[in-house]
Amino acid sequence: MTRQTPDTVAVIGGGRMGAGIAQVFATLGSEVTVIEAGDRDAAHARIVKGLDVAAAKGKLAATPGQVLSQVQVVADIADLPADSALVVEAVPEDVALKADVLAAAEKVVGAQTVLATNTSSLSIGELGVVLADPSRFIGMHFFNPVPASSLVEIVRSEATGEATVAAVVDYVAALGKQSIVVQDSPGFATSRLGVALGLEAIRVLADGVADAESIDRAMELGYRHAMGPLRSTDLVGLDVRLAIAEHLASTLGARFEPPQLLRDKVSRGETGRKAGQGFYPWDTATKEAR
Ligand SMILES: NC(=O)c1ccc[n+]([C@@H]2O[C@H](COP(=O)([O-])OP(=O)(O)OC[C@H]3O[C@@H](n4cnc5c(N)ncnc54)[C@H](O)[C@@H]3O)[C@@H](O)[C@H]2O)c1
Repeated sequence: MTRQTPDTVAVIGGGRMGAGIAQVFATLGSEVTVIEAGDRDAAHARIVKGLDVAAAKGKLAATPGQVLSQVQVVADIADLPADSALVVEAVPEDVALKADVLAAAEKVVGAQTVLATNTSSLSIGELGVVLADPSRFIGMHFFNPVPASSLVEIVRSEATGEATVAAVVDYVAALGKQSIVVQDSPGFATSRLGVALGLEAIRVLADGVADAESIDRAMELGYRHAMGPLRSTDLVGLDVRLAIAEHLASTLGARFEPPQLLRDKVSRGETGRKAGQGFYPWDTATKEAR
């Protein structure tokens, strides 16, 4: 199989995921343009930090500065390179916002550009209806943190063309990551399974069956999961999990109805590691569980 590096990549949204996606493509050798509507310095700083971490782990062949010279952060979608081989949208999980930026991007790029979204749960088919050519549109579901995770879930809708799937499978392989190709369906394969386990773990906790550490240890040692479902929910963010659970409950049924404990914790602001409190207390400076 060829492992083709896209020469030019654009990433829309330079947040947690977008910065990571920009970092891995720049490390591969692509010229990367990040379109960030908010704080561009913060987006740039996230990429610098990610590259420094990669360098400290000995994972960069070049210096962070050399990789950074291939990255520019701009404010406006109009500045997206028309010759981009790939555009990955990574703005917040909001259908209207994503549809807006994807439609705007399609107007700027050439016919050869693949348009991808990093949504973790929204329908690829529904997002694609705003495009003149939905056959070039696909889901590229990266995981957090992008540089360290080895999977990209590729999501094809009925409208996605074979050439689009083939190109994206190739790009993922070039990144040194594994891909799975799944059909467009609420929560795809990964979020649906991850959220199901996370919600049931919260119910086990709420029912008083076991404490948080015991529940996580059960899955880590008993089922060889790399991380237990409650700790994992703390890292993802309880608010993010709640939003996905509500979406899955409305599309797949009541089995995804969020437990009251999850709602209560989110309304108290206990949204996980980023807030210093989720199912565990977290040190926000070191980002370690206390
Ligand atoms: N965080 C995760 O663990 C994770 C994992 C997989 C997928 N995702 C998905 O990735 C997407 C992004 O998530 P995130 O965690 O990086 O969010 P984030 O809030 O960290 O980043 C979003 C960025 O987009 C920017 N933005 C907002 N509107 C914009 C616009 N119109 N044009 C350009 N930039 C704009 C924001 O300023 C922000 O920097 C979401 O769809 C999310 O569901 C997240």
